[in-house]
Amino acid sequence: MRVLLGVTGGIAAYKVASVLRLLAEDGHDVRVLPTAASLNFVGRATWEALSGNPAPTETFDDVPSVQHVRLGQRADAVLVAPATADFLAQMAAGRATDLLGNALLATEAPVMVAPAMHTEMWRDPATQANVATLRERGVHVLEPAVGRLTGPDSGPGRLPDPEDIVAALYALLDGSRAANGEIATGAAAGWGDLEGVSLVVSAGGTREPIDAVRYLGNRSSGHQGFAIAEAARERGASVTVVAANVSLPLGEDVERVDVETAAELEEAVTGLAGSADAVVMAAAVADFRPAQASDVKLKKSGTDGMTLELVQTADVLAGLVAARRPGQVIVGFAAETGDDAASVLEHGAAKARRKGADLLVLNEVGDGKGFGTATNTVTLLSADGTVVGEASGTKLSVAHAVLDRIGALLSRD
Ligand code: CTP
Repeated sequence: MRVLLGVTGGIAAYKVASVLRLLAEDGHDVRVLPTAASLNFVGRATWEALSGNPAPTETFDDVPSVQHVRLGQRADAVLVAPATADFLAQMAAGRATDLLGNALLATEAPVMVAPAMHTEMWRDPATQANVATLRERGVHVLEPAVGRLTGPDSGPGRLPDPEDIVAALYALLDGSRAANGEIATGAAAGWGDLEGVSLVVSAGGTREPIDAVRYLGNRSSGHQGFAIAEAARERGASVTVVAANVSLPLGEDVERVDVETAAELEEAVTGLAGSADAVVMAAAVADFRPAQASDVKLKKSGTDGMTLELVQTADVLAGLVAARRPGQVIVGFAAETGDDAASVLEHGAAKARRKGADLLVLNEVGDGKGFGTATNTVTLLSADGTVVGEASGTKLSVAHAVLDRIGALLSRD
């Protein structure tokens, strides 16, 4: 799993190097975010060497990858150890003065903090009020151990032993998401788990010309497909996006092919699929196009109605499934509305069986859901229509859930 480890400025920071080692030995991919004050106790080089990852402090380190948001969004668990009295106050106030503060606000993962300080500071009403606030918000606050503190004094305030912190973290996760199979554990779910994977993602919605200025289109914005592309890139994949009429920007290290019609999309995607490990068909592709498109603008004068003759377009996803190489993963999307005949899930399961893709990402649309919204709720279905997962939240967090599944499918043999 992906663990964010926040280290704040207390002498007990040195013990957290052992926490990091234990997590790394268990196969977890750890990103350390030390606060500036903590670097007085343990230097950045220690965190980077032990984790094998960069250990940034400032929000303005590596701005293009928007890591202040992504690190939090991508974490399966966040641990802050040691947590100083001052940091607990910052957390309780929801302040984001550095990268760790930002990541904590951006995460939906379980958060555990391990306070360590002198007994008087721990017992101070301000600290106790902050701890109570954090607990109320669902943060798991470990009780400090009792014993010898830095000076001659002793009492509650010691950082628990590294083994105990790690065991408490695992217990917390077992009691929540890990128990539901929602998070993968082990190295496979690391921050760079898609390194070496080549991925093609289609996104947006096709437009089928009627005449020189008009077209048949749909309401797909491309946000979910683009989020999958960005998230996959972040996880180390090399990504090409086939964008059908999407006005959103993409990071520079993602290849982009712009298309307009279903036929153009088919040509681009099938061409690229030959050398791709996985293809995600997030685009809304027109099923029909006008049989003839006029080169000039059609006039309404002299007619009081109009009939458009439509012909079917190629089913790109079906073509990809038919041409699938062994080990290649093909993912389809289904935007469904329920009706009298069947529920959204029944329509989705039937489509999963009909399409034969390795994974079908089903979402309910209509009534303000799905298109153009910042968040999404999806159900993941296997080729036989079985529900294999669910994800809800920002389109980026849904993207990561889809990629977790793709990663598992790619490494199944
Ligand atoms: N798709 C495709 N080519 C098409 C139409 C759809 O590749 N001509 C892909 C979409 O990108 C998506 C999946 O097929 O991944 C499901 O699209 P959808 O329009 O829901 O499927 P249809 O088979 O067209 O089903 P329906 O009868 O519900 O429209």
